[in-house]
Parts: sequence; C-alpha cells; structure tokens
Amino acid sequence: LSRKFSTSSALQVAIKNVTIIGGGLMGSGIAQVSAQAGQNVTLVDVSSDVLAKSQKSIGDNLSRVAKKLYKDKPQDGEKFVKDSMARIKTATDPAEASKSADLVVEAIVENIEVKHKLFKQLDEAAPQHAILASNTSSLSIDEISSVVKRKDKFGGLHFFNPVPVMRLLEIVKGAETSEETYKSMLEWGKSVGKTCITCKDTPGFVVNRLLVPYICEAIRLYERGDASAQDIDIAMKLGAGYPMGPLELADYVGLDTNKFILDGWHKKFPDQQLFKPIPLLNKLVAEGKLGRKSGEGIYKYD
Ligand code: CAA
Ligand code: NAD
Repeated sequence: LSRKFSTSSALQVAIKNVTIIGGGLMGSGIAQVSAQAGQNVTLVDVSSDVLAKSQKSIGDNLSRVAKKLYKDKPQDGEKFVKDSMARIKTATDPAEASKSADLVVEAIVENIEVKHKLFKQLDEAAPQHAILASNTSSLSIDEISSVVKRKDKFGGLHFFNPVPVMRLLEIVKGAETSEETYKSMLEWGKSVGKTCITCKDTPGFVVNRLLVPYICEAIRLYERGDASAQDIDIAMKLGAGYPMGPLELADYVGLDTNKFILDGWHKKFPDQQLFKPIPLLNKLVAEGKLGRKSGEGIYKYD
C-alpha cells in the first residue's frame, strides 16, 4: 500500500494490488489489462477449470498484443508476455485473495443475491483502505453496496467486451462514493490504458442505457419482418458506421444477457415502452439459442 495526497489534501489510495473476482469473459480481460499495466493481480474464480481456461486465453491475447507492440523485437515481446503472466496469481477463495488488495473488482454472475453474498465477505476480509468495485452491466451500484460498511469506498468500474480491445471504462459514482475513491478509480482506470468517463448510478449507466434499447429495437424490427437480419446489420454498419450490426452484437453479448437486462429494467420501470419484453427474444433464449456462445442465436455459428 502506498498513499499520496490528492489535490483535496485527503488521503487517496494508489492502487498496486488488484484482486479480480470472476475469471470468466470479463474478469480475465480485466486481469489481462491490469497485468499488462504492471499491477499485481490475483484472479479468483470458484472453478479451477475456469481459471485454467482464463490463463490460457490471457496468454494467447498477450501474445497477440506482443506481436503488435514488439514487431521488430520478438525477444522483448516474449519477455512482455512472460512478465505480464508472472504478475497474475490465481485463487479460489475470494476472502483470502482480498486480504492484501488495494482494489477488488467483482465480475461474477449478474445476480444481486450472489453479489451481496460475495461483497459481505469481501467487506470483512479486505484491508480497511481497499476500494470495492463492481463491473455490473445493469444492476444499481447503490443496491449492490447496501450490504457493505465501507459505502464511501465502493463504486462501479464498468468495462466493455472484449476488454483488451474496447478502450472505454465507465467510472460509476454511487450516492455515497467518496471523492477520494472516485479519484483513485479514475487514476487506476487511466493506468490500465482506458479512457474513462464518469457517470451516475442510473440504469445501464451511459453505454448500456443507449445500447440495450438500440439492440432491442433491432430485434423488434426483425421480429416484425420489416427487414432481414442481414440487412438490418448491413444497414447499421454501412449507414451508421458501427463495427458490428445490432443483431450480430446481440449474439456477441449473449441473448440471455440482453434478456436478463431487459427483464430487470422492465420490472423496475413497467411503463417504459423501450424496456417491454420481446417475444422473439424470450423464445430464442427458452430454446437455448443464446448467441455465439451456444452456436446459435439470431444467426447460426459453426
Ligand atoms: N481479445 C483481444 N484482442 C482482440 C479480441 C479479443 N477477444 N478480439 C479482437 N481483438 C483484436 C484483434 O487482434 C484486432 O487487433 P488489430 O486490429 O490491432 O490487429 C482487433 O481487435 C480487431 O479484431 P478483428 O480484426 O478480429 O475483428 P473486428 O475488426 O471485427 O473487431 C471487435 C472485433 C473489436 C469485437 C469489433 O467488431 C467491435 O468493436 N465490435 C463491437 C463490440 C462492442 O460493441 N462491445 C460492447 C458490448 S456491450 C458491453 O460490453 C457492455 C455490457 O455490459 C454488456
Ligand atoms: P461469465 O459467466 O463469463 O463469468 C463469471 C464468472 O464468475 C464465472 O467463471 C463463474 O464461475 C464466476 N463466479 C460466479 N460466482 C462466483 C463467486 N461467488 N465467486 C467467484 N467466482 C464466481 O460472465 P461475464 O460475462 O464475465 O460477466 C461478469 C460480470 O460482468 C456480470 O456482472 C456482467 O453483467 C458484467 N459485464 C458483462 C459484459 C459482457 O459483455 N459479457 C460486459 C460488461 C459487464
């Protein structure tokens, strides 16, 4: 732990040791960018199989990065991969793994009860100065932090998929997030190479509040038969300059994730037309057609 004075002369934590809980898609990406930036990382998952897979994918992704960064110096590239990998420890006990953390980033399942259970343990185990943060896509930061004592040292750090490629990080201020915590999160976000924006704890923050209704409108358009899936995607790629069309993106994010977010918001805001359930989305998810990860969603994948 090292501390330094912020401009407000209050103590601000300089983050060096980061513990990431959840070694899935997002957690492994967050571990990668943190290790690349020189942080000491502990990556935690309940499943050691998941941890083994994460380490493999982080290694592969780091090699991709090294090829680009050290095009003419392959030996330096190898050293970069080796050094970055050496900074990542893995563990299966979140409490134990948080004992020397300056920052804990949670990236486990999008379920409030499961997150509450975890944060209660983390609040007990992590050092007093440590900041606790959630990478939630759609839940409220204040609702998640309701179970911890250190509400001033709690906030949202919302990354985007794929984490090593997407340059944005949303820094979410809860009602009780202190200015020092906010500044520490902001500095940490910049140090791991992200461009940070600041937002309040409102549903979907900025990106998902715009992106999820957009994806849902595209599914509704397709459901009505107004255009083919391919044409909707071509339209938004060539007519609006998006790297992926909305239906490709729906499959990429996961139709179950899209449905989960929409259902949660619909329950909270039943009058909002944009959050109304979509029969086609419900049907595809019920059939196990979840998008890329299950081999079929709106499109079929080999
Ligand atoms: N890990 C690391 N690097 C990756 C990668 C991964 N998983 N996937 C792609 N890359 C790298 C490639 O190496 C390549 O690098 P260079 O250009 O430097 O060589 C670059 O990214 C582009 O990749 P590709 O050429 O393979 O493919 P592409 O040009 O089609 O790009 C994409 C792929 C970056 C995913 C792009 O299609 C894209 O930006 N799509 C939109 C993604 C998006 O909107 N994400 C947000 C989802 S919403 C969310 O995350 C929030 C939430 O809470 C649900
Ligand atoms: P994922 O299913 O790929 O990974 C979650 C991991 O958490 C799994 O490996 C699981 O074994 C592990 N886990 C579950 N409970 C645990 C616990 N109590 N302790 C330790 N590990 C536990 O999910 P993901 O896509 O990486 O999403 C994680 C979080 O990030 C969610 O809150 C999600 O909303 C958010 N998010 C997702 C995306 C996305 O596009 N997938 C983008 C931004 C944010």
